[in-house]
Amino acid sequence: MNFVLQEVKNYLGIITVNRPDALNALNAKVIEELTDSVNSMINNEDVGVVILTGSGEKSFIAGADIKKMQTMNSEKALEFGKSGQNLTLLIENSPKPFIAAVNGFALGGGSEVSLACHIRVASENAKFGQPEVLLGILPGWGGTQRLPRIVGYGIAHELITTGKMIDAAEAFRIGLVNHIYPLAELMEKSKDLGHQILKNGPNAIAKSLLCIRKSVNSNIESGLNYELQRFSELFDTDEAKEGLSAFVEKRKPNYR
Ligand code: CAA
Repeated sequence: MNFVLQEVKNYLGIITVNRPDALNALNAKVIEELTDSVNSMINNEDVGVVILTGSGEKSFIAGADIKKMQTMNSEKALEFGKSGQNLTLLIENSPKPFIAAVNGFALGGGSEVSLACHIRVASENAKFGQPEVLLGILPGWGGTQRLPRIVGYGIAHELITTGKMIDAAEAFRIGLVNHIYPLAELMEKSKDLGHQILKNGPNAIAKSLLCIRKSVNSNIESGLNYELQRFSELFDTDEAKEGLSAFVEKRKPNYR
């Protein structure tokens, strides 16, 4: 891979988009490599949580590659948009939590990749925005769908129609990011969060993510029914037996 770095250590996968000379903007090749990397993390039994970040100290992902989009017609844009949507869906539907460690600009498609992650943490210098309307286009990798679900319709309408950039403090205020850290601490703090999650049962985590996803598109009754089925299924797993017994026996559970 030329544009994506990946490592796995102690069940924590780290994916770094590595195209710093273009502020980690995503062209078709980077999207392809990123998709392969996300797939490999999802399929790797030695990975329980994935951190996604950008290389350098300035940018997470500065969006889709504008230089490539400049020459696209609607047919090419459909294909390009689809590849970005497939990537974001893959992340969102992952049974393993993805943490976006946003280390700078998360603009356009970069913001949209972070929105697909289950948790966002940011460095103090992070900047978020959906500046597509400034370019005469719109957020095409899920921004119009995921941003309102995370920050609410009113704020999403303003962010998308003005295209304005917001800083980390504002992103925290509107619930877009869970935590803000100095840049030098971002990765360590993200890893700490990952390790906190890794202490817990992998099946329980995967099914919790499924249930939370379900809550977005279903009424409360069918969501509750879905949750109940996943809840009861877990009782047949070794994992639940271990977790429940460990509590009763006053010891730490061993899931991995
Ligand atoms: N696509 C292609 N190249 C990009 C890029 C992008 N999205 N963002 C930055 N770059 C390139 C710049 O062209 C520049 O390359 P050159 O040195 O070859 O000129 C290099 O990265 C460094 O960028 P700047 O010199 O512009 O750095 P800066 O610090 O002055 O500004 C910035 C930083 C404010 C992020 C500015 O680069 C910028 O506004 N980038 C575009 C951000 C944007 O509009 N993103 C949304 C794209 S649309 C989209 O993503 C659609 C979608 O929904 C999928």
